[in-house]
Parts: sequence; structure tokens; C-alpha cells
Amino acid sequence: MIRLERVSKTFPGTQRASVEALDLEVPDGTTCVLIGPSGCGKTTTLRMINRLIEPSSGRIIVEGVDVTHVDPVQLRRRIGYVIQSVGLFPHFTIGENVATVPNLLGWPKAKIEARVREMLALVGLDPAEFAARNPASLSGGQRQRVGVARALAADPPVMLMDEPFGAVDPVVRARLQREFAEILRRLGKTVIMVTHDIDEAIRMGDRVAIMREGRLVQYDPPERLLAAPADAFVADFVGSDRGLKRLTLIAGGDVALPGRPAGPAPAIAAEASLQTALSLMLSEGTDAVLLVGQDGLPAGHLTLTHIREVAAADHAAATSITCHGRQA
Ligand SMILES: Nc1ncnc2c1ncn2[C@@H]1O[C@H](COP(=O)(O)OP(=O)(O)O)[C@@H](O)[C@H]1O
Ligand SMILES: [Mg+2]
Repeated sequence: MIRLERVSKTFPGTQRASVEALDLEVPDGTTCVLIGPSGCGKTTTLRMINRLIEPSSGRIIVEGVDVTHVDPVQLRRRIGYVIQSVGLFPHFTIGENVATVPNLLGWPKAKIEARVREMLALVGLDPAEFAARNPASLSGGQRQRVGVARALAADPPVMLMDEPFGAVDPVVRARLQREFAEILRRLGKTVIMVTHDIDEAIRMGDRVAIMREGRLVQYDPPERLLAAPADAFVADFVGSDRGLKRLTLIAGGDVALPGRPAGPAPAIAAEASLQTALSLMLSEGTDAVLLVGQDGLPAGHLTLTHIREVAAADHAAATSITCHGRQA
């Protein structure tokens, strides 16, 4: 678990605090996405956790230990760190880059080589093809993959990621988001990720922390953030299409009406999102869809009216809906 207790940072020579009385708790094995306008204190917050920046006040507990009581070098070996421009060592091969921390930890050579192969395969890079290559020969997306492989190499329980997909084009970014969310969840990492992209936050965060001018404005699961923004700033930040965004988080099967549609209707997988169901209705010109379970059997139905009701559901109803298999 990562816990920040009233953490503040005022840089020398500045008037205002860059981070002010920040409380944040990230349970083990979950991903917290930090989001907010440029300059709101996201990077400062991350870098206080691995002590690249010392807090002015407050406490930061990582895995039960106050980070100020740990040698920073030791600490950083237990915390993976991925940044936008990756910072691969240009004169090292890809394999040597991934091996950096295991080398520092003095692992035996054979164990390191096996780990490098495992990590490259994990992030979708064929070790036989990539281990001996130089960073300069890779695309931006491939470099990000290596950056993540390197950060994961020593199996740190905690990962800090600062706009890890900021430098890659939108198509590659969407794929990396999906893949890495899956990998981090499967490995049970506790993650804090910074982004300024609300769609990325909604896709990747178990919970999303919205910051403004150094302060935490709202900290909630994506579902609740979209259903019940804490104030006008958050509502504006998540966008006027938040109703539609919410529909992408809700599986049809989770809010299905019982039985079959009244008339003929197209069928769709029960795990498809309400947004997918809605587009199918629009393209087919129907006002209902039949849901089909993984066993191929009917699993209830949805109507246009029902989707509209779900979209308009109040805060209380929204919090009881399961999204992506997680309890919101
Ligand atoms: N080393 C520094 N010295 C003085 N001010 C800084 C320093 N680093 C960051 N700041 C200021 O702190 C605020 C938060 O910065 P940062 O955490 O980088 O924002 P974000 O990552 O959300 O864009 C900004 O106003 C920035 O100018
Ligand atoms: Mg930043």
C-alpha cells in the first residue's frame, strides 16, 4: 500500500505550495491515476514518493515504511519508475538496459539473462530479436515497452509511471494502455500513474485522483467520477460527454432487463459495454438488443429507454454497478 498523509511541497524561492496537504491511499495491487492540468503538482507528487524530491511536510508510507527512513537508493530499487522520455541508456543494448537493476542487486548472470528474456517477452518484444539491439533503433512505442520491462525487472511491488504513453501516437497508445493495464493487474503491482488524458485515466485507473493547484479535488473510481463529479472543475475536466464515457464502463449484462426484447432485435455479447449496445441500436435502427452470454444462451436484454435511465442514474445507483469486473 502507498499512503500519503498531508504531504506538502513548497520549492525554495517560490511563494505557493506546489503540493498542499495531499492525502492519498492506494491499496495493494490497484492502480491510482493522478490527473489534472499542467503544473497542478502530479510529477512533484510522484517524485516525492521515490524521494527524487523531499516533501516539505507530511508523511509518505510505502509498504508499511516511512520513505524518509529508507536509504533513497534502496528505496528506488523497490519502486519501478517509468517516465515519458523513458531515459534508456543509449550506449547499452536493450537487454543491458532491462538488466540494470538486477545487475545492481548482484543477481547471478544466468538469472539475469533469464529475467531479461522473460521481461521482454512480457512487454511483447521478442528477446531473440530485441535483446542485442540499441535503443536508437526502436520506435517510440517499443522504447516505452523497454522502459516498462526495465522498471519491472527486479519485480518491485510498486510502480510509478509519469505520462508513460505521452510520447507515442494515439493508436499505439491505446494498445499500450490496454496491454500494460492487464500486465500490471496480473502481476498485482501497486501503481500510481500520471496522465493528462482523461480517457486514459478512465481506462487504466481503479481509482482516479483529480488534482488542481496542488490539492486533491476528487479521488474516486472512474465510474463514480463520471456519475458524480465533485464540483464544476471536475465536471468540466471529465468532459461534457461524461454520460457517454460512463456507458463504456458498464457491461450490458450487469444492468440487463430480464427476458427477451418485445420485437425482433440484434444480439450482442453480454459483456459488451452499454456504449457498444447503443451504437448497435443506432446502426440497426432498433430500440432493443438481445444479450447473449458466453455459453451462447440469452442473458436478458437492453432497451434504449433503459440505457437512458442507467446513464441518468444518480450517484447512489452508479456506485453499485460493477465495471470491468471490479466493484465500483
Ligand atoms: N524544482 C522546482 N522548483 C520550483 N518550482 C517547481 C519545481 N518543480 C516543479 N515546480 C513547480 O511546481 C508546480 C507543479 O509542477 P509539476 O509537479 O511538475 O506539475 P505537473 O506534473 O502536474 O504538470 C509547477 O508550478 C511547477 O512550476
Ligand atoms: Mg508532470
